[in-house]
This record gives sequence, structure tokens and C-alpha cells, in this order.
Amino acid sequence: MRKIVIAGNWKMYKTQSEAKTFFSEFPAHLKTTASQAAIADQQILICVPYTNLAILQTILPAIGQANLSIGAQNVHWAENGAFTGEISAPMLLEMGIKYVIIGHSERRQFFGETDETVNKRLKAAQAHGITPILCVGESKQQRDANETESWIFSQLAADLIDVDQNNMIVAYEPIWAIGTGDTCASSEANRVIGLIRGKLTNPNVTIQYGGSVKADNIDEIMAQPEIDGVLVGGASLDPAGFARIVNYR
Ligand code: 13P
Repeated sequence: MRKIVIAGNWKMYKTQSEAKTFFSEFPAHLKTTASQAAIADQQILICVPYTNLAILQTILPAIGQANLSIGAQNVHWAENGAFTGEISAPMLLEMGIKYVIIGHSERRQFFGETDETVNKRLKAAQAHGITPILCVGESKQQRDANETESWIFSQLAADLIDVDQNNMIVAYEPIWAIGTGDTCASSEANRVIGLIRGKLTNPNVTIQYGGSVKADNIDEIMAQPEIDGVLVGGASLDPAGFARIVNYR
């Protein structure tokens, strides 16, 4: 069975004090009537800047929401070394971090991330028992040139070499839908995610959609049969708004 994962990606937003304020408000907005069964198959995840990880991990137990986790937004492939500005999997693991975003289009676009480095980061996360969320997706130019499928297939082929498909999540994030308010039609997201699933060897991989997900389109997105969750940027910054997304059912 495919697990539902509703994830936020805070990107480079929120200082520690802002993060603490978010978590002082967020739990009160979550549905308290959710049955244990519903909680068991739905993971709530918020991927925050590195500077917030430790403080939020100490706050989490007091919230008492067993299916709520904090994740990171990147991880280096080496255990340690002369890699200024990078963070390793053992560093995340020591803080109890179990999820990490890898290969987000902003990393690929602005920080020189390649399929080769994405592949190395995926394997390093998995080697330490951390579940990576692999992001793939096409640009507007690629979509207009009818290259969506071939581009995403080439990303998957290169990124997933020797990657264990039993411990990973994929996020389909069309670049043109990120932060633009221009959501990919849910039927089209469903179609592409179905194609992505067809390229995987494990049919039970959770595949999310990301790109301008909001409280007012979450129900439609989650009603799509191939879509197992969402990766939410801007709308994950507001506690009531993100809780509405989490509470979609
Ligand atoms: P927005 O939800 O702000 O469009 O961002 C999506 C995203 O990049 C999530 O990783």
C-alpha cells in the first residue's frame, strides 16, 4: 500500500523564533478526530532550514502528533570532509532526522546540482536510513517543446542508478508551477505521475505533486488516483493554511 505524505518545504524561510511560533500554532489547527488508522497511513512532514532542525526536534515530542516529522532540504554524500557549507547524513541522523529533500529544482537551477550529485546524495541518505524525497520536473520551455516525458524519464534513469526504491519518495514538481500560482491541472499531474510510476520497479513508491499547492486546490489534487501526497512551498509557511492542507480529508 502506498503511504500518503503531506510535506511542507519551507525553503529559506523562517528563523528559529519564527519556526517556534509556527509550531506553537500549527497543532491546534490539525484535525483531532482523525482515526488511528488514518494517522497510520498518512505522514506529515515539514522540511525546514538546517538552523531550525535541532530546536524543532526538541519541540516535537511535546506536540504529541506521532505522524508529524521534521525533515531537511539537502544532504551531502560524504560522511564528513572538507566540504564547506555542506551537511552530512550522520549529522542529520544524530538529530533524529529521517527525511531529506534531494534534487529540488532550485538546487539544480541555482546551485549546480546535477543528476550525478543527486544520485550520490540519494544513496548517502539511504545508507543512513534516511528517506530521500527525489524531486523531478520539467521547465516551461521543455513542456512547450513536448519534452516533458523524455526529460523526466532521463532524470529518473540517471538519478535512480543503484538507489533502493523501497526507501524513497518521488515528488513531481513542474518548474513552471513552482511559486507561480500556476498549478499544473490535477489531471495532468496525475497523468505524469502515472508515467513516473511506470518507470519505477517498486509500484508502492509514494509519488507527490508539488507546485502552487494551496488549501483551495488540495482536495482536487488528492482526489487523483496516482497522487499520494504533496510537497508544498509557500502555503506551508502559514500554520492554519498548511493545517488545512494536511486536513484535506
Ligand atoms: P510552491 O508551493 O511555493 O509553488 O513551491 C513548491 C515547491 O517547490 C515545493 O518544494
